[in-house]
Amino acid sequence: MCGIIGIVGRAPVQARLIDSLKRLEYRGYDSAGVAGLVGGRIERRRAAGKIRALEDVLAASPLEATVGVGHTRWATHGAPSERNAHPHRAGRVTLVHNGIIENFAELKAALAAEGRVFESDTDTEVIAHLFDSELATGLAPLAAFKATLDRLTGAYALAALIEGEDGLILGARRGSPLVVGYGDGEMFLGSDALAVGPFTNRICYLEEGDYVAIRAGEAQIFDAGQRLANRPVRLVSAAAALVEKGEYRHFMEKEIHEQPDACQHTLSAYIDPVSGLATAPNGLDLAAFDRIQIVACGTASYAGAIARYQFERLAGLPCDVETASEFRYREPALSSKTLAIAVSQSGETADTLAALRWCKAADLTTAALVNVHESTMAREADVLLPTHAGPEIGVASTKAFTSQLAALTALAVAAAAARGRIDAAEAARLSGLLREVPRLIAQSTRVEAEMRALAPELAKARDVLYLGRGEMFPLALEGALKLKEISYIHAEGYAAGELKHGPIALIDAATPVIVIAPSGPLFEKTMSNMSEVAARGGPIILITDAAGAALAPAGAKVIIGPTCDPLLAPLVYAPPIQLLAYYVAVQKGADVDQPRNLAKSVTVE
Ligand code: G6P
Repeated sequence: MCGIIGIVGRAPVQARLIDSLKRLEYRGYDSAGVAGLVGGRIERRRAAGKIRALEDVLAASPLEATVGVGHTRWATHGAPSERNAHPHRAGRVTLVHNGIIENFAELKAALAAEGRVFESDTDTEVIAHLFDSELATGLAPLAAFKATLDRLTGAYALAALIEGEDGLILGARRGSPLVVGYGDGEMFLGSDALAVGPFTNRICYLEEGDYVAIRAGEAQIFDAGQRLANRPVRLVSAAAALVEKGEYRHFMEKEIHEQPDACQHTLSAYIDPVSGLATAPNGLDLAAFDRIQIVACGTASYAGAIARYQFERLAGLPCDVETASEFRYREPALSSKTLAIAVSQSGETADTLAALRWCKAADLTTAALVNVHESTMAREADVLLPTHAGPEIGVASTKAFTSQLAALTALAVAAAAARGRIDAAEAARLSGLLREVPRLIAQSTRVEAEMRALAPELAKARDVLYLGRGEMFPLALEGALKLKEISYIHAEGYAAGELKHGPIALIDAATPVIVIAPSGPLFEKTMSNMSEVAARGGPIILITDAAGAALAPAGAKVIIGPTCDPLLAPLVYAPPIQLLAYYVAVQKGADVDQPRNLAKSVTVE
């Protein structure tokens, strides 16, 4: 997913475009560019790589514009290079784009047949040519823009400048979000609230199919049917608007330490302040369903996979969890009383959104468990199940994950009570446990120094295995994902009992095995699997509690986390595995917050 900023300013915009792009860099960072209207002409500067490279270009050749657009890219069509970096231009038009144009090959062929020459491999340049060709027919800018939009199939958020139209930026949204920011005699466009956060806290979210003309002090918004639309302007909190690393070296480190607060804020939406009992927010009646279907991608899908154990064990509610990209392309057989829950930090992930829409079309009740409450999923689902993690900038998800877990665990308790599976006393006991989560998570981050100490050795590994049983199995998958995405070490998570059915062949002295096993009903079984590893010379790192540590096999390195009820163990044992991945990545000198090839949210299939 790319980042977009547009500013119709009263003063030069270069520094502000760059400031905004830096805040958006988490969305994509393989190349960046800016363009602005200077004396009736459009000038452009672009660079491959991070925003730093663009700053070097601008230092040598500043952009003296008061109206401009900027973009940070995550490549879809065309390799990351300056030539493919946005803004793209054709004739009078220069524009930036987030999304994918599905009919770009066909449009490109038609435009090429008219003699238009393309300088990049991107789908975006096709939009610029199309728009320029509509303008060339004599249409006014807004009409030409709308005619262009009508010919596009796929997803887009756009911000466009037109030569000869000083003081104007056109924007449009379909499939990818776009916000309008209202400043003091100035106007902004951004791909999210963070983009315009440093300049204004008054923003308005465009609806699907909307397009907009912004000029100094005004925004004219039109809906897909070309009618003037009145979209509400909201005040966003300063915290959401301005995100800084503070005392931390990386956003990921900061976000790991924000987890007690993130979970506390999230749980406050799921615990009734008067009764103190876990409860589903926004009127969701959990007794009305006979099944839960969770759809999600990446880390969010592991939160769902953990919740499955809890919904089934506590509430006796059958629960399926499926990777959204698979779910959307098969024909799942679901009962009409299925509650479909899309779990997503961003609320914009293309596959999760498509799966949610599939469920809606199948007449299921849909819920969006999302961190961005104005996101497309939040708006399209029947029920919003919020997480309150605050903006998550590190590409590797941490506090969003534990917030999802906190919300889902509370929902499982609420479902157990609503379905009569537990009595009032047990509901009160389990709800009481939930209130301990922030304290226990704070306690579990205290293993930080030990994780840092393990990093130099682990950083030498080529392969690492993660093992867990029960809810610790999806947590093992998440641990492996964290390590591979930020340190580039090959890592796999396995169900501990599955080890002997294949993965054990991988065990040797150079393959560390990380076992996540706080004491509990399954601990002894996992111990046996650890012995199988130890017998084959595999180095073991056991992450457990004090009781588990007492039973650890000789030679294992033992990390002791807090003692907690098994219900909370996935939440409490998430920070240690995040810290381990973090310090290994730091040890390797990897780009922790912006790992290669990844993007924070993937709004393409
Ligand atoms: C990307 C991110 C992951 C994230 C996944 C789902 O792959 O790199 O960290 O878990 O998308 O994102 P979502 O916003 O739907 O939770």
